[in-house]
Amino acid sequence: MFKILLNSCLAAAGILSLSLSSSAATESVQLSDRLQKLVEADRPLVIAHRGYSMAAPENTIPAFELALLANADLVELDYYHSSDGVPFSFHDGTLNRTSNAESLWNESRIPTASKTWAELEKLDVGSWFGSQFSGAKIPTLAESLDAIQPGSITLIERKQGDPETLIHLLKEKEILNDVIIQAFDWKFITECNELAPGAVLGALGPPRRADGTAYPVEERFLNADFLDQIEKTGANVVGWNRQVTPEAIEDAHRRGLRVWVYTINDLDLAVRLLDMGVDGIISDNPAMVWKAIATR
Ligand code: G3P
Ligand code: CA
Repeated sequence: MFKILLNSCLAAAGILSLSLSSSAATESVQLSDRLQKLVEADRPLVIAHRGYSMAAPENTIPAFELALLANADLVELDYYHSSDGVPFSFHDGTLNRTSNAESLWNESRIPTASKTWAELEKLDVGSWFGSQFSGAKIPTLAESLDAIQPGSITLIERKQGDPETLIHLLKEKEILNDVIIQAFDWKFITECNELAPGAVLGALGPPRRADGTAYPVEERFLNADFLDQIEKTGANVVGWNRQVTPEAIEDAHRRGLRVWVYTINDLDLAVRLLDMGVDGIISDNPAMVWKAIATR
């Protein structure tokens, strides 16, 4: 984490407390001790994907609480904005798979960002997973952060929403220095870096081509071209699928980037990826990741 180390050394020496943005001086984020330690850790990180989503409905408070009980280093979530601007935790682009929206409103394929917060609050996001979770509500992003931060660190994946609103919320809660922001949209990460230099950011991939189409499978491996683009965003972390190689991971490390892989639920695959040198495993089953680490 060359960039983070450099920033903290300069800050400690009193040389750098401000960095310049295009319009005005923007304060550089000084990381919390626990986040600093985590991003510098010399062991792989255990990252709970959408909470402990193998044991509880994804992106809900029960899933986040179980991830804390499993001692996850990071708890990942996804968020959107409601049509009236409330950020809330949810994964899919439509409401149907993980809520009762379809039966409640008798509509199929309802876009997640199309409803007001008052409407979204009515949804049950637990019953689809199991009757013991019946009645679970969608948490706002703020409620999710309140549930996760006391026991872990949130890995916030932005699915939809502007960077200003997110940075403002994190500043208001005084946790901008104690969370990680990631997105598949590398322009969003670049904008977060401009608004909050020094914050820990992750660029997710593989990306889509400029025309919006997917790369063929064989071109989706992490490589030097992707890493060149990621470096320009100001990201500190690369979040990739299993299409990584030891060479690409080494290349990322030479550039001061950490490599985390998603979504790995198989023990043998997790062990193989750890053997390749990945720095973190994002899994629906964080206990399995601890086992994979212990196995080696
Ligand atoms: O953390 C990375 C991973 O969550 C990205 O994929 O579709 O599960 O959000 P997705
Ligand atoms: Ca995600």
